[in-house]
This record gives sequence, structure tokens and C-alpha cells, in this order.
Amino acid sequence: MKRYSRITGTGSALPERRLTNADMVTLLAQRGIETSDDWIVERTGIRARHYAADGVNASDLAFTACRNALAAAGCRTADIDLIIVATSTPDMVFPSTAAILQHKLTEAALADGDVAGAKGCPAFDLQAVCSGFVYALTVADAMIQSGAAHRALVVGAEVFSRILDFNDRTTCVLFGDGAGAVVLEACEHDGSGPGILSSDLHADGQHVGILCVPGTVSNGSILGDPLLKMDGQAVFKLAVGVLEEAARAALAKAGKTEADIDWLIPHQANIRIMQSTARKLKLPMDKVVVTVDQHGNTSAASIPLALDHAVRAGHIRPGQQVMLEGVGGGFTWGAVFLRM
Ligand code: ACO
Repeated sequence: MKRYSRITGTGSALPERRLTNADMVTLLAQRGIETSDDWIVERTGIRARHYAADGVNASDLAFTACRNALAAAGCRTADIDLIIVATSTPDMVFPSTAAILQHKLTEAALADGDVAGAKGCPAFDLQAVCSGFVYALTVADAMIQSGAAHRALVVGAEVFSRILDFNDRTTCVLFGDGAGAVVLEACEHDGSGPGILSSDLHADGQHVGILCVPGTVSNGSILGDPLLKMDGQAVFKLAVGVLEEAARAALAKAGKTEADIDWLIPHQANIRIMQSTARKLKLPMDKVVVTVDQHGNTSAASIPLALDHAVRAGHIRPGQQVMLEGVGGGFTWGAVFLRM
């Protein structure tokens, strides 16, 4: 018997404000910039994205996603002994969005009449941009396997609309806001049960400049540009290569092959990257969870958002094997292979 960590509940949150490509055409036209539904759909597969209202932060979206995940798992906030939030758009420089989230969850649990919240459990943010959720899941899995934690909330939450340059039509149409969360819980079995079976993480800092928000807070003002910069073609080329490699490495570590993948959930950035990855892994597109058309790229939130949508739609079922794959700024990339 071995100790594993398994997903017992999923949840997500999307801000109410939904912008279609037609809305983006209008928004950019106000700045004298042209775009079109045809261009966005053909190059990216994106049709709509959500933007958080003023005053709504990553912790607010994370809070709703976590409450939904806790309800799905049938557990209380007080049962949680670890919180990890993957985000590149935190509420503040510090403290962590995870600490803010912990407080919001605890207040809500107490208001519900619970005797305790999640007060006191370790809570921290993890920064790996769009690979953040697979990184966070891997860290939580390691902490659960070691016995340092028993039941974790692992969250991806972003408000990318706050760091977009609306004068740059190539990037501003791509991203959206949202959050996704899972409850990850310890279990023991001989390897045939549910749980994370393997993971494979990487980073290569020589590519920092191809996808970044270079600005920083310094001496009371913002030093450098605080908006997202991307060399789209360089990111595209790197992404298609590393996503195949990471999936194959995770499969090898688990002693499995492509035929063992029931569902592929790649980072939802661009439908063409997803199609290319599926082709390389010899998977038909009906085994690929696609939400990029409705959510755009929500960075660290994209994988748990897509997972929650596929679980709630009844597509992903208990016992099925799922490959999660992230890629993003850093450059970072990685895969987690798990059984539901
Ligand atoms: N509407 C209309 N035309 C546009 C738009 C737009 N929104 N944006 C760019 N164009 C034009 C350009 O001006 C250019 O015109 P020109 O030929 O007259 O100069 C033309 O379209 C082609 O532009 P490219 O930038 O070469 O377009 P490309 O085919 O590379 O597509 C894209 C751009 C969609 C960004 C693509 O490169 C891509 O998806 N890259 C990967 C991005 C990605 O996956 N990022 C995820 C990582 S996520 C993270 O970590 C945050």
C-alpha cells in the first residue's frame, strides 16, 4: 500500500462580465485599433472571455471556486490543512493571496455556523505563470505523500485583465479572468486507485523576455512597464515542443503510454497549440477538454477551470485517467498525470 493524493472535489468561478470578440472589436475601436472576430477565432480559437468588476480580486474568485470545490468534496473549511494559490495577479505585493483567501474562507465558515475555519493552516502563493496549477498540484501532492498535509485546497486564480495592454491588439484579446480549485486528499492503495500518478516540471529562465510583465514596485513607484509583453511566435514554438515532452515524461514515470490517457487538459491558451499537442500524442480532439473558446487564456486558472467544467458536465468520470499540462512565462512547463 502506498500513500497517494486524489482529487475529491472541483470548483470554479468566472466573473459576470463576459466580453465576446464583437465586444473586443468595439473596445479596441475606441482606441482607434482594429481587430475582428475572424482574426481572433482563426488564430486562437477564442470567442469570449470574462473580466472581473472593479474591486474584485484574485482572492474573491478563488474564494468562490474553493467554496464550490469544498461543497463538491463534501467537506468543511475546517477539514483543510494546506492552501496553495497559483497566481501571477495577486491581490497585493504581500501578504499572499492564499493568506487573504484563508481569512475569507474562515469568515464564511464561521458565518455558516461552523466552529472553525481554516485558521492556522499553511497558506502560500506559487508563481509559475500559466504552469502555476500543475506546479501547485505537484507541491501539494508531495506534501500529502510526505504526511505534511492531509487535505489541501489547490487553486489557480487570475485577474489578467488588470495587466493587459489594450493598445497591443496581439495580446489583449487573448486573456481573461477566472479561478478554479480542487480539494486534494490523502488516500492509500496499491496503485490501482485514484490519485496523482506522476508529474514532470521544468523551467528555463533564459526565455524570461518572451513572456513577462517587466514592471515592479520600487521606492514608492512602478519601475518599468507593468503590462504584459509577449513574443507570440516564440512562445508558440516553444510551447508545442515542451508540451509533448512533458506529457511523455509524465507517462513514462507512471509506466503508461498515450493509450492510457482518457482526457487531455492542456493549458487553454490557443486552440492551435492544443491541436498540435493532441496530434503529437496521437489523441483525437474529442479526448481534449477545450474551454479556451469561452474563457480565453486565464493563465494559472485555465486548467482547474477546464477540469471543473468537464467534471460538472459529466465528461470526466471516476476512474478515468487525465493528463494536465501547463506552459507559460518563465519559461515554465509541466504535466501531471492522475486518475480521478
Ligand atoms: N486583430 C487583427 N489583426 C491582428 C491582431 C488582432 N487582434 N493581432 C495581431 N494582428 C495582426 C498583426 O498586426 C500582423 O499583421 P501584419 O502581418 O500586417 O504585420 C498579423 O496579424 C500577424 O501577427 P502575428 O503576431 O505574427 O500573429 P500570429 O499568427 O503569431 O498569432 C498569437 C499571434 C495568436 C499571439 C500567436 O502567436 C500565439 O498564440 N502565440 C502563443 C501565445 C500563447 O500561447 N501564450 C500562452 C502562454 S500563456 C502565459 O504564460 C501567460
